[in-house]
Amino acid sequence: MTMTLDPRHSGAGTGQAVRRVGIIGTGIMGADHARLLTGAVSGAAVAGVFDLDAERSAGVAAASGDARVFADPYALITDDGIDAVLVASSDATHEDYVLACLAVGKPVLCEKPLAPTVDGCARILEAEQRHGSRLVTVGFMRRFDPGYTDLRQLLAEGAIGAPLMVHHVHRNPAAVPGLPSSALITNSAVHELDIIRWLLAEEIVEVAVHAPRPSGQAGGTQDPQLLILRTASGVLSDVEIFVNARYGYEVRCELVGETGTVTLDAPPPTLLRRSGVAARDFPGDWRPRFAEAYRRELQDWIDGTGGGATAWDGFAATFVAQACVAALESGERHSVSLPRTPELYS
Ligand SMILES: NC(=O)c1ccc[n+]([C@@H]2O[C@H](COP(=O)([O-])OP(=O)(O)OC[C@H]3O[C@@H](n4cnc5c(N)ncnc54)[C@H](O)[C@@H]3O)[C@@H](O)[C@H]2O)c1
Repeated sequence: MTMTLDPRHSGAGTGQAVRRVGIIGTGIMGADHARLLTGAVSGAAVAGVFDLDAERSAGVAAASGDARVFADPYALITDDGIDAVLVASSDATHEDYVLACLAVGKPVLCEKPLAPTVDGCARILEAEQRHGSRLVTVGFMRRFDPGYTDLRQLLAEGAIGAPLMVHHVHRNPAAVPGLPSSALITNSAVHELDIIRWLLAEEIVEVAVHAPRPSGQAGGTQDPQLLILRTASGVLSDVEIFVNARYGYEVRCELVGETGTVTLDAPPPTLLRRSGVAARDFPGDWRPRFAEAYRRELQDWIDGTGGGATAWDGFAATFVAQACVAALESGERHSVSLPRTPELYS
């Protein structure tokens, strides 16, 4: 996908065209994206912001130079001073905003999930196909993480032979009390669902979700969970998702091939040795761990390089996530039969 920069807008003193981004939703992710777009991504400026919480949007606008605070999100989307839109509001609001961007033909980077329901994702796919070219990018930023891109490259080069299994660990220190058990899949493991499709370049065709004794720290949520996913060629992936692991944020992945394995640990570079112990710090959440991935994701989007996840990838992730939720609730294995990939995405 190519997103053409509007030549009318020039970066001050640099002669470089600037993409004027409007951000909808300025909570944790929206504020972080605004910070990166302002200070770490070239060719971008935060030109407008909207959040239901006006104080939050005013704070992010002030930190982003001369960004305008909009009182209406649809006015931001249609405004002539906004070239592209980043949607980082809560999950249930994504569909309406993405459809509004498609209606006026503006590129949109939508945080995951594209929409929480398969029907919502399908409506976006239909609208984008009616438009006729790809405008939607979904924020599956792990595709830009140097560790994951190395894994994919090594696999493609044949460094470990044909893949057989993939082990994933995804842990957070603590979740909000009362989190629905399905959210471990739709909010957290959905990253692994996307990474499996992207790493192996094939679809997930069967899912099962195992529910061990829940942690006493989880306040009634089924936490942890173990997902078992089979792709079309028979590769098995297991995903441990544990959102009250207490000690810190950690993501690991190991690819097992016919002639070797490759492991993604991504530990912090600093190792403290003292009192008979060697210790590393864990980040408190995903932002420091994936800081470079977010920066590369945004730069790719601004440059129009098209390396990000498409609306079809967003649809597929929600489709598989819903099958996993059904498998969690039934305790049974579920087969997954995605519709044929539309031509726009093949
Ligand atoms: N890619 C990732 O790694 C990643 C990580 C965390 C969250 N997310 C996704 O990013 C999105 C935001 O998550 P967050 O952690 O920043 O949450 P958050 O609660 O910190 O922020 C959400 C913001 O959306 C605003 N909001 C709610 N309804 C709105 C509406 N109708 N219009 C405009 N603004 C509205 C809220 O006031 C809040 O400021 C979610 O969709 C989440 O799933 C992605």
